[in-house]
Amino acid sequence: MGRRMRLTAAPLYIFLLICTCGYAFIPGVDGPVSNVETLEGGNVTLFCDSTPDSADDEFMILVWYKNNMPIYSFEIPNKQWSEPSFNTSSRLQADIRSQPTAVTISSLSEEDQAMYHCRVDFRLSPTRNVGINVTVVVLPSPPFFMDEMSNKVTGRVGPYHDGDTLVLRCLVIGGRPPPRISWYSGDTMVDASDGDSEIPAVRENELYLPLTRDNAAALSCRAQNTELAPPIVAVLEVELYLPAYNVSIHWVRGTVGDALRAGSPALAHCTARGSYPQPELSWWLDRKHLTHHSNQSWFNSSLTAISFLELNPAVGDNGATLACVATNPVMAPNRGSNADVITLNVTYSPMVDIMKLGDGKLNDVVELDPLQLKCDIKANPPLERIRWYFNDIEIKAGGIWGDDISSEKLFVEEATRAHAGRYSCAAENAMGETRSDTIVITVFYPPECTGHGIRLVKESLHCYVKALPIPDTFFWHLQPSGFEVQHLTTGSPILPLDQITGPLGDTLRASCEANNDVASQEEACDRTFTFEHLRPQQPQQCDIAYEFGEFQMRCVPVENATYYEVSVWRMSESNASLVLERRASMGFGGGRALAAGGAGGAGAGARGPAPRAALGRVRRGDEAGARACNRYGCSRPLLLRPSDTLLRAADPPWWHVFLEKDVGISIGAVILVAVFIISSVLLLRLARRPRRKPPVIQVLQLDDVARNYLDNIAEHKVRASCSLRSCSSGYSDASVESAGARRKPWERWEPPPPDVTLTLHRESAV
Ligand SMILES: *[C@@H]1O[C@H](CO)[C@@H](O)[C@H](O)[C@H]1NC(C)=O
Ligand SMILES: *[C@@H]1O[C@H](CO)[C@@H](O)[C@H](O)[C@H]1NC(C)=O
Ligand SMILES: *[C@@H]1O[C@H](CO)[C@@H](O)[C@H](O)[C@H]1NC(C)=O
Ligand SMILES: *[C@@H]1O[C@H](CO)[C@@H](O)[C@H](O)[C@H]1NC(C)=O
Ligand SMILES: *[C@@H]1O[C@H](CO)[C@@H](O)[C@H](O)[C@H]1NC(C)=O
Ligand SMILES: *[C@@H]1O[C@H](CO)[C@@H](O)[C@H](O)[C@H]1NC(C)=O
Ligand SMILES: *[C@@H]1O[C@H](CO)[C@@H](O)[C@H](O)[C@H]1NC(C)=O
Ligand SMILES: *[C@@H]1O[C@H](CO)[C@@H](O)[C@H](O)[C@H]1NC(C)=O
Ligand SMILES: *[C@@H]1O[C@H](CO)[C@@H](O)[C@H](O)[C@H]1NC(C)=O
Repeated sequence: MGRRMRLTAAPLYIFLLICTCGYAFIPGVDGPVSNVETLEGGNVTLFCDSTPDSADDEFMILVWYKNNMPIYSFEIPNKQWSEPSFNTSSRLQADIRSQPTAVTISSLSEEDQAMYHCRVDFRLSPTRNVGINVTVVVLPSPPFFMDEMSNKVTGRVGPYHDGDTLVLRCLVIGGRPPPRISWYSGDTMVDASDGDSEIPAVRENELYLPLTRDNAAALSCRAQNTELAPPIVAVLEVELYLPAYNVSIHWVRGTVGDALRAGSPALAHCTARGSYPQPELSWWLDRKHLTHHSNQSWFNSSLTAISFLELNPAVGDNGATLACVATNPVMAPNRGSNADVITLNVTYSPMVDIMKLGDGKLNDVVELDPLQLKCDIKANPPLERIRWYFNDIEIKAGGIWGDDISSEKLFVEEATRAHAGRYSCAAENAMGETRSDTIVITVFYPPECTGHGIRLVKESLHCYVKALPIPDTFFWHLQPSGFEVQHLTTGSPILPLDQITGPLGDTLRASCEANNDVASQEEACDRTFTFEHLRPQQPQQCDIAYEFGEFQMRCVPVENATYYEVSVWRMSESNASLVLERRASMGFGGGRALAAGGAGGAGAGARGPAPRAALGRVRRGDEAGARACNRYGCSRPLLLRPSDTLLRAADPPWWHVFLEKDVGISIGAVILVAVFIISSVLLLRLARRPRRKPPVIQVLQLDDVARNYLDNIAEHKVRASCSLRSCSSGYSDASVESAGARRKPWERWEPPPPDVTLTLHRESAV
């Protein structure tokens, strides 16, 4: 059978070649046709089924034609042929074994586009024809760009401003079938209006595109003429000036939530996106440019600028606006700026200030007036609590404070002295508690007597009142008993007694009222005084002398005495009591000077002039008394009794009369001459004595110092210093009667109690 096939094949082959020369394949009529598209340079596989329709039939020959020209054949048993002009570079490969048989043409060129068909002959069955319409696609050149002036543009155009219209042509050379040219922004087609250009075999698409941030970012031109290959893309970079489109401030650290803390630094950063070129980021705090503590970085791939700001917020910055302004340096400021503005929330523990409200008086209030204090508070976050402090102790509701003590105002309807003291307030919020300074409130009140009222201190009256402010005027009402009321005003609470006129030997009714300009004193301080303790001491050292023909009483001065009185007491004949015989004031100075009423002698020492007085007629058994006086009255008298010696000296012998008269003087002169002769011997001895022998004097209770003092007074007759008012009154009261008439009954002599008298007398007699 193989042999027969071989024999019959050759003539058939030749026949076929000849026969088919004039034969043309008619698609659809001679056999089915399929379409195949393929790329230039690629390959295409043509399939053809060569199995016979029935099992008893047999395949004879298969021939492939291109446009009716044979390019390949295969016949049994194993004869293969290919057209050498077509099978160049061994580009034709056949696989006859598998079914359907496959013939692959590689390195396809434009010329390979043709109608191919295969013809299969069988021994019995009719010839089979299958057509394949092969289209070879030729890709176009990559697109390129030309501007309006037909200048070629490579890669990058611009710069443009936002909104400018970009006019640009995209051109493509060649391509079969002719390509479609489209403009894309990203994946969005923005222009598909392509067409043929003036240049042959070149197609173009001219773009008119108002540029925006969105469409300019990824602009490209695409050319495509087959689905077999992806479009050919040319990317265009557009340099577009853009303002930042999103500026935002964020806190990096130093905040709690979005709240800042006064005094603790915080870091903010501002991000500006989408600006080209790099924007300038500036920080503003309430329209104040912050130039320090910020830096800026730029990330050109994402068009993001970042600026950090270190901010140290103060209390005053609460509520302030913080702005980050991104300015594009190449654009007009009104177009190129964008900003983010945030309001600062600066928290701080309260700021507290205490003050007194009302009447303009800073820190004082008059008793019974209202007292109103205000706690001036600034706080963020808002206050949670207010506390008031009085003398550093927290004020609790109730008592002198009323019930409302938790508001910003502390109100006391009627201030009392208990409300005077130190006040402060404290405010608390979530950030802490702050205590205010202390304000010292003084409560003024009118004067009122203290427990003491008026007191006598030494020789002054003191008015004891409580008052705030300290009173500056004191009104005195003074009434020595038996006299008119005297009204005096002083600027201090002390009134010296010497400002009161009239004697103070008896009682004095005194009242005082103070004034401190707050209100007048409601009740005057009142008291009645006696001044016995201010009277002088009883004279302690006195003597009686018989001098210049009369009895005299002399005393050592007593402190604080302004005048002295002398008295003579005589034993009553009817009963055993002493009766006042006469009384007189004592003068000062030496014996006779006293009688003349002139100035008394004054000691050179501190004791002042010695008081002395003539006693007049003194009998045996009489007693003489001396007492010291001042305006507060007189002391008890010191009583002395003249001694026998003195009495004898005072009671002269009978011839004494002659000595007193002119005759007596003559006789006396004669006697003196005689005596002179007789005593001439003695004279020398007597001449040495500087002093005349003193008269016979009984000295009582005098020590040596006092004696010496009294003697000196008598000798020198120093002029008395009588600056004291009381001194002159002592002189003027020369007569008993006139002094007595002026004196009050309580100042009168009282009979000295016998026991006292005797005691003194006994002492003096020792
Ligand atoms: C035909 O082309 C495809 C892809 O293009 C390739 O994988 C294949 O090897 C080619 N065949 C021949 C026979 O060249
Ligand atoms: C094409 O030519 C090469 C060498 O010239 C040959 O080896 C190959 O078999 C031919 N192809 C076919 C299908 O005949
Ligand atoms: C073959 O395909 C081309 C386009 O690829 C077409 O123009 C032609 O008419 C087709 N031929 C037939 C016979 O279908
Ligand atoms: C700006 O950016 C922030 C986050 O960075 C975003 O939440 C906001 O929506 C953006 N605003 C605009 C207008 O894009
Ligand atoms: C500020 O922050 C504080 C604490 O976070 C908050 O209580 C308060 O309400 C904030 N104030 C404003 C005006 O946002
Ligand atoms: C800017 O300041 C921040 C905070 O101080 C810092 O973290 C950052 O590194 C600084 N950047 C530059 C570029 O200096
Ligand atoms: C960003 O800047 C770097 C150098 O500064 C440059 O090499 C790079 O090309 C720039 N990138 C863009 C997208 O402009
Ligand atoms: C005399 O008066 C002064 C002043 O008043 C007083 O200090 C003194 O004690 C008085 N002397 C006597 C002895 O009373
Ligand atoms: C003593 O006699 C006098 C008159 O000589 C008289 O004034 C006085 O009252 C008498 N005193 C007494 C206690 O009787």
